[in-house]
Amino acid sequence: MTQRATAVAHPNIALVKYWGKRDATMNLPATGSLSMTLDVFPTTTTVTVDAALDADTLELDGEERTGTPLDRVARFLDLVRAMAGSTAHARVVTTNAVPTGAGLASSASGFAALAVAAAAAYHLDLSPRELSRLARRGSGSASRSIVPGVAVWHAGDDDETSFAEGTPAPDMAMVIATVEEREKPVSSRVAMVRTAETSPFFPAWVTSTAETLERMVDACAAGDLDLVGRIAETNALRMHALIQSCDPPIRYLTAASLGVLDRVEALRAQGVLAYATIDAGPNVVVLCAPDDAERIAADLADVASTLVARPGPGARLVETIA
Ligand code: DP6
Repeated sequence: MTQRATAVAHPNIALVKYWGKRDATMNLPATGSLSMTLDVFPTTTTVTVDAALDADTLELDGEERTGTPLDRVARFLDLVRAMAGSTAHARVVTTNAVPTGAGLASSASGFAALAVAAAAAYHLDLSPRELSRLARRGSGSASRSIVPGVAVWHAGDDDETSFAEGTPAPDMAMVIATVEEREKPVSSRVAMVRTAETSPFFPAWVTSTAETLERMVDACAAGDLDLVGRIAETNALRMHALIQSCDPPIRYLTAASLGVLDRVEALRAQGVLAYATIDAGPNVVVLCAPDDAERIAADLADVASTLVARPGPGARLVETIA
């Protein structure tokens, strides 16, 4: 019996954001979303099923972890065990090439890699759609990191219909402008709940984002990168306005983030196609045409540390050992 499997997954950056849940138990989102899986910052995860273990264990970036990170992993493995009809615990060893918790979506690559590795280690033969649904249970954005390149996560009506799949899109690049690497003060999971419970703008976010996603899918299919960028930047700024409207408020944007946003606006004024998006953290990601990426990265080098990313592969198994 194969008892050990290793998988690699990459983070994704949403161009239409997922922010808010319709059902926290099944992790169904309030709206659909759309993202690009990156070719940088992979997470590598090995799951070793071991009937001799009393409990699951987690090593994250070389450190033994307990508390919330281990609980999330153990609850996720409970789902996999229920599907597989197993009671055996597992050792999970994971390494992130992305700064954990800095708003660069390490939970997306993390749970996508864990879904693929755990499914294989527990002998589940799942389709990409089933893997996306499973990854979603660990972290919503992880549903999209199963998919290579540009993915649309359908909000769906229930567990079966809420999954991500590929969607046609123009060739693009992203310049990741890191202004800070510390862990974010409030996790997106906690912030999403507070947003839904306390922001008077939340209903408007839900209705407008559903419409934004339709326009984004069309803009991607038409290959209109300028429109894709404009929709993405508007959506990201709406999400941050929404988050800032919580009680008590949460603000992920820092002065350094705004400095990068100013520079992106200046680039556009010079005729460069460049649009910004920001996840639940201070770091900015600039969407652009592949040929402009290096020049934009160089332009931002004095205000952020920059890295060019291109569309990357979906989560995949790299090793299984019987
Ligand atoms: C701002 O997927 O981390 O990156 O489902 O609670 O684990 P959970 O949330 P998570 O939230 C991602 C939020 C975001 C936007 C996005 O990636 O769409």
